[in-house]
Amino acid sequence: MTDILIDTSAGVMTITLNRVNKKNSITGAMYSAMADALAQAQADDAVRAVVFQGHETIFSAGNDIGDFLAAPTVTQDAPVFQFLRGISTFPKPIVAAVCGPAVGIGTTMLFHCDLVYAGDNAAFSMPFVNLGLCPEAASSYLAPQLMGYGRAAEALLLGEPFMVEAALEMGLVSRIVPPAEAAALAQRQAQKLAAKPLTALIETKRLMKKGQASIVAERMVDEGTLFARMMSEPAAREAFTAFMEKRRPDFTSL
Ligand code: COA
Repeated sequence: MTDILIDTSAGVMTITLNRVNKKNSITGAMYSAMADALAQAQADDAVRAVVFQGHETIFSAGNDIGDFLAAPTVTQDAPVFQFLRGISTFPKPIVAAVCGPAVGIGTTMLFHCDLVYAGDNAAFSMPFVNLGLCPEAASSYLAPQLMGYGRAAEALLLGEPFMVEAALEMGLVSRIVPPAEAAALAQRQAQKLAAKPLTALIETKRLMKKGQASIVAERMVDEGTLFARMMSEPAAREAFTAFMEKRRPDFTSL
């Protein structure tokens, strides 16, 4: 699968979103490839850290909206939920390099990364309501925790983007660098992690996340059930169709 590139070297698995002509929007096949890669990385003691990256101009435009239209019925076994369960419970460190827009799951997956290095062109948004959907990836819990309720409401109810400086201030991003340097920095930091004792890394990450692990798992099931239902409802159908037809959605009768 060339839309997802996977490379493992020196203890680091690098997963690259490589569908730039569609702004790295993510199809079911891409979620499956990433879920499988994470499972393999978890099982292989030789892999000690994972890096996620996109392109210098775009991290990800989120879920492929054409896929949403084509497959309105999803279950908890859908590739997107397999990927989200994989990334949210992944025991080893995850580093991300994020440049350009990070939309929807492009932002929410970062809540499950340990170190996020962002280009100064990065912009984050979670426009689920604008698509007639609800949040996923436990972002309905993690966004208010990280951002405070007020800023989370702007991001999740209004669907307003937030810039990289705000993401740094709230701790979603670890450091801002020129876009051309983000991937190399993520690699260097992952290499540093890969040189450390694996059990100490795993136990430290587990302890840091222990307070929220069961809440996150439970919230993801709640969100997933709702999300799956809302995908086939009129508001979402109108939003997806409008996107594909390159027009503004009309929610006036909904
Ligand atoms: N799903 C499917 N296709 C997508 C997509 C998505 N989420 N995001 C972008 N694309 C496609 C566009 O349809 C377009 O395809 P085309 O060249 O065949 O017409 C191509 O990628 C380029 O997108 P475009 O919108 O022209 O690029 P841009 O630079 O003007 O804007 C974004 C980039 C990311 C701001 C914009 O594409 C966008 O807002 N995408 C939708 C984000 C979204 O709502 N995601 C779902 C979150 S749950």
